[in-house]
Amino acid sequence: MKLGIIGGGLMGKEIASALGRWFALDPSPGTARLVAVCDVSEPARDWFRRVPGVESFYSRHEDLLASDVDAVYVAVPHSLHERLYLDVLKAGKDLLAEKPFGIDRAAAQRIAEASKNQFVRVSSEFPFFPGVQEAFRYVREGRLGKILEVHSSFLHSSDLDPTKPVNWKRQSATCGEIGVMGDLGLHVCHVPFRLGLRPKTIYAQLQNVYSERPDGKGGFAPCDTWDNATLHTWCEGDIPVTFETKRMAPGQMNTWSFEALGTEGGVRFSTKEPKTLWTFEPGKEQRWVQTDVGHRPSFPVVTGPIFEFGFPDSLLQMLAAFTAERNGTLEGRFGCATPDEALLSHRLFDAALRSQKGNTVETV
Ligand SMILES: NC(=O)c1ccc[n+]([C@@H]2O[C@H](COP(=O)([O-])OP(=O)(O)OC[C@H]3O[C@@H](n4cnc5c(N)ncnc54)[C@H](O)[C@@H]3O)[C@@H](O)[C@H]2O)c1
Repeated sequence: MKLGIIGGGLMGKEIASALGRWFALDPSPGTARLVAVCDVSEPARDWFRRVPGVESFYSRHEDLLASDVDAVYVAVPHSLHERLYLDVLKAGKDLLAEKPFGIDRAAAQRIAEASKNQFVRVSSEFPFFPGVQEAFRYVREGRLGKILEVHSSFLHSSDLDPTKPVNWKRQSATCGEIGVMGDLGLHVCHVPFRLGLRPKTIYAQLQNVYSERPDGKGGFAPCDTWDNATLHTWCEGDIPVTFETKRMAPGQMNTWSFEALGTEGGVRFSTKEPKTLWTFEPGKEQRWVQTDVGHRPSFPVVTGPIFEFGFPDSLLQMLAAFTAERNGTLEGRFGCATPDEALLSHRLFDAALRSQKGNTVETV
């Protein structure tokens, strides 16, 4: 698979560096080579000159799409998702899209409709931590008994600093009205949705704490996005599930967590303790048991099983899953988020906006 990247910012560089360790996958789930990059910014393009194998550097995405790449990873501001994703699909290329998969529900719907004839998946890497895979299997195997509640959260804290300058993720025009939900939301939906937890109704609590931020030029600019979102939902099967995304969660630096509790068991994982899986053993002496899960990802790598797993490893696993599924060799392993899952997340966020506006319970 010859891969191109459109958008060589934070995530474009992360994906390039994860691809640079492709040879660590053993056995290899297929070939994936980064050959071309496009960014409107020259310094961003120039960074990729250090990446072995990248032969073409474009300032216009149309030129990258006219090249012989097979698939494209696109990581640009949310306001550009629809136009660029549709252009990728029109050019006949497969697509690894970034979340939230369009700036709003209507855009996501149009992209999903255009995605029917090509292989399209959406980036969401945390489920590829071995501990998350263990937690997923635990729930799938029915070890919870009757499910009592599920909590899925992704928490940041750097926005607590009011002097942090504004950027495109903090303005509705470029991030979307859904704000933090667009930024962090698919990350908390991927695992619950894959477990079949589909939200029926929602009561949302959204907060916009700082309404302006330094503009980086000596003045201030509006910061009109939701900073924190707690979505209380009833999912099919009458299961309460909370989806929590926050940019202002004191003490939390990119903390992705999942907890599921049931009548016969429970399971917890958090990237705060990236190698630790907690499982609940009911009985007379109720206890939470801590297990070190080690470096045992779905797609084996040369890294020893006792070593720690981290964020770049989860991106490599996600790329392996994208490649394997595209080749038809996923073989039951956990796959990347689908356009349908991204669209369902948009329906949830859209209902959250309605709920916040009227302080009401809304149908998803
Ligand atoms: N999966 C994750 O963990 C994760 C983390 C952060 C961001 N993201 C997502 O990745 C996407 C990009 O976020 P980021 O943090 O990398 O942003 P960024 O601002 O760091 O990078 C965006 C890049 O896009 C470039 N760009 C803008 N317009 C362009 C165009 N028309 N053609 C080509 N390039 C263009 C910019 O010059 C910039 O280099 C967003 O959808 C965001 O939600 C995902």
